[in-house]
Amino acid sequence: MEKPRLSKEAFLGLRDLIYERWGICFQENKAYLLEDRLKKRLEKRGLSSFDEYLYFLRYDPLREKELRDLVESITTNETSFFRDMNQLEAFRKGVLPEVMKRKENGQRHLRIWSAGCSTGEEPYTIAMIVHDEGLPAKGYRVDILGTDVSERVLDVARRGIYGEYAVRNAPDRYLKRYFTMEQEGYMVKEEIKRMVRFQNINLVDHSQMKRVRGMDVIFCRNVLIYFDDEAKRRVVGYLYDSLVDGGFLIVGFSESLFNITRAFKPIGINRCIVYQKV
Ligand SMILES: C[S@@+](CC[C@H](N)C(=O)[O-])C[C@H]1O[C@@H](n2cnc3c(N)ncnc32)[C@H](O)[C@@H]1O
Repeated sequence: MEKPRLSKEAFLGLRDLIYERWGICFQENKAYLLEDRLKKRLEKRGLSSFDEYLYFLRYDPLREKELRDLVESITTNETSFFRDMNQLEAFRKGVLPEVMKRKENGQRHLRIWSAGCSTGEEPYTIAMIVHDEGLPAKGYRVDILGTDVSERVLDVARRGIYGEYAVRNAPDRYLKRYFTMEQEGYMVKEEIKRMVRFQNINLVDHSQMKRVRGMDVIFCRNVLIYFDDEAKRRVVGYLYDSLVDGGFLIVGFSESLFNITRAFKPIGINRCIVYQKV
């Protein structure tokens, strides 16, 4: 059978559908990437052209199920424990003390969100840092929320078992303290897992986003790069609403909110920029 080719019309249809639903932006020069990633979905559904696939996504009774599978194919889930150590040090040395200072006379409850958490390495890393800083021991209740649109990565996250590659940047001290070595790999210890819960949330979906409130810190790293400026503005606006006054937003090392919003105050810590809600 001849290989299905992605026509310009089908590309534009798929591009718009993906953008509207998830904010993920495929430029025309990335059509080959979309074609490559979606070929398997056509095979799975027994469809012979991208036009048929687009029709299926728009009108088939099973479209919601297929959309859930589609998003698995188009997202990039690269991540690791202790990714971008400078930023994590900025969090540990600058952000955490500031957040705790603000809570001195109030509730000892800390809420942190890893938005676009992929397979869970980021929220578990945050939990390890917070635990290592002794917050639970000082009587703080710590809740860390990890969210993503992909159910597949969330399943991996909930399991909490990782290969050598995922922990390659984890300092030895943390590796020894917070993992047990199992036959299947490095398993995150229960005391850390207890601090983290996972949920499926689409960052461009306002009805889902407005349910998340009262966050002290939000990590949204290496996610905004997949959005165009309009989708970035929308998502950053929702994240702003999810933060408490004085709360912090930490975006990826190569990402910036320049030209996206002026609602945050950029603060330099440890050669990184973090954004505070003022
Ligand atoms: C490259 S990973 C980043 C993981 C982690 N934050 C880090 O920096 O290591 C990007 C993640 O964002 C998720 N993502 C993309 N679009 C999303 C959306 N609209 N809503 C929620 N998550 C999304 C992807 O599924 C993917 O797991």
